[in-house]
Amino acid sequence: MATEGTEQREPVAIVTGAARGIGAAVAARLADRGLHVALVDLPHELSAEAAHTGPWRHASGTDLDAATARCGARGHPHVADVRDPVALRRVVDEVVAHHGTVDVVVAAAGAQAGGAPLWETDDDTWRWMVEANLTGVFNLARATIPEMLRVSPRRGRFVAIASAAAHTGLPLLSAYTAAKSGVVGLVRSLAAELGDTGITANAVCPGSTRGHMLDASGAIYGLTDAQAFAEQARIGRLIEPDEIASTIEWLCLDAPGALTGEVIDVDGGFRG
Ligand SMILES: NC(=O)c1ccc[n+]([C@@H]2O[C@H](COP(=O)([O-])OP(=O)(O)OC[C@H]3O[C@@H](n4cnc5c(N)ncnc54)[C@H](O)[C@@H]3O)[C@@H](O)[C@H]2O)c1
Repeated sequence: MATEGTEQREPVAIVTGAARGIGAAVAARLADRGLHVALVDLPHELSAEAAHTGPWRHASGTDLDAATARCGARGHPHVADVRDPVALRRVVDEVVAHHGTVDVVVAAAGAQAGGAPLWETDDDTWRWMVEANLTGVFNLARATIPEMLRVSPRRGRFVAIASAAAHTGLPLLSAYTAAKSGVVGLVRSLAAELGDTGITANAVCPGSTRGHMLDASGAIYGLTDAQAFAEQARIGRLIEPDEIASTIEWLCLDAPGALTGEVIDVDGGFRG
């Protein structure tokens, strides 16, 4: 991993949405590979959406503690809302103060709300979906890329989680789908701008992956069991969070520097 000058230091990652699900699995894998990991999340106890009546909820403070514990001594919890650029900047400043820079950034935070067709979707749902799923990635990139550009040699890795929804229109989830499509465009432009800097930016598009968000999607579609989504994948089963995490680990630590601006589908052959 990147070292500043001749000084040896331990590499560090920032992972948003790290309290649960895919983000927690990414954090654990990166810690196992020897990175310090700043686990960023917004527990539902502190979120403005605590009273939201839809099926999806933020993770809890206990979830964040458990995900941090899975990382052992290399896990460092941070409470921040990815919609708040000042809060994210504060996290990055703390990470840089302790570890010198940022080597790996994974934007896994995502929220889900819907249940109505687009023409009946209210302003709050639209704003929440766009701000949490798209503006959050924009804020994270703005807070971290300047730090990655500061070090020499430059080997920073930025990975954002989009969704199979970015390729296939999902009914009753138009705001979420629009935001995830935006993440794909954002990452492609970012990679073009990073060009020959040595820093790469890529997106990963998961298909139906076991966990709270998929359960919430099932509830929106009136399914009693999210297992029914397995029929939409050619592999005939749900994807495990660790399968997405292992792809992200590879992108962050093993993939060649030539792999940038890509959108990698880990969707089990999603057919929509
Ligand atoms: N599970 C799936 O089937 C699936 C499919 C495609 C894409 N994805 C995407 O993968 C990512 C991880 O999904 P998951 O299944 O682990 O979902 P999840 O709901 O279990 O985890 C999402 C995490 O993001 C956090 N979060 C949400 N809004 C936040 C905010 N404003 N600030 C900080 N943290 C915030 C939540 O508290 C939660 O811990 C998300 O971006 C999701 O949209 C998931």
